[in-house]
Amino acid sequence: MSRALSRAELEDAVARAFAVRERAHAPYSGFRVGAVLVMPDGSTHAGCNVEIASYGGTVCAERNAVAAMIASGARGPLACVIATQDARPTMPCGICRQALFEVADDLQVLTVAELPSGVRAEQATTLAELLPFGFKFDPVTKGQPSG
Ligand code: THU
Repeated sequence: MSRALSRAELEDAVARAFAVRERAHAPYSGFRVGAVLVMPDGSTHAGCNVEIASYGGTVCAERNAVAAMIASGARGPLACVIATQDARPTMPCGICRQALFEVADDLQVLTVAELPSGVRAEQATTLAELLPFGFKFDPVTKGQPSG
């Protein structure tokens, strides 16, 4: 993490995460999730969950945001903002934590849940806190990086 995002930058990302959440394809669970990666220049990359009838093919919002960032040619996100409609903030699943670790050693993570009543709950944390001792692989040495 090279710098901490301001509350205004985070709020903008929260609005984007709720907007992309509207486009989620979640006919099986009905649980729509939006995720936004925020880049150092303030640009964002968004993803929503896409469920597949063969359930194991489902991809979470966070990993689809990572895919959108990679496809755009960008690297090095500062933050991941997650939006759901629930009473409690949704924490990224284990696979998504590892996927985020693929593109950032650390990240600000802000997860926001809002009920239709407008009641909001949020949790701010970091990827390092969510994924201590994450797995990295060095493609040159074909082993784990030293240090
Ligand atoms: N889901 C996400 O998109 N992100 C998370 O952090 C947790 C779970 C999705 C996967 C599935 O489509 C639905 O939520 C219920 O598990």
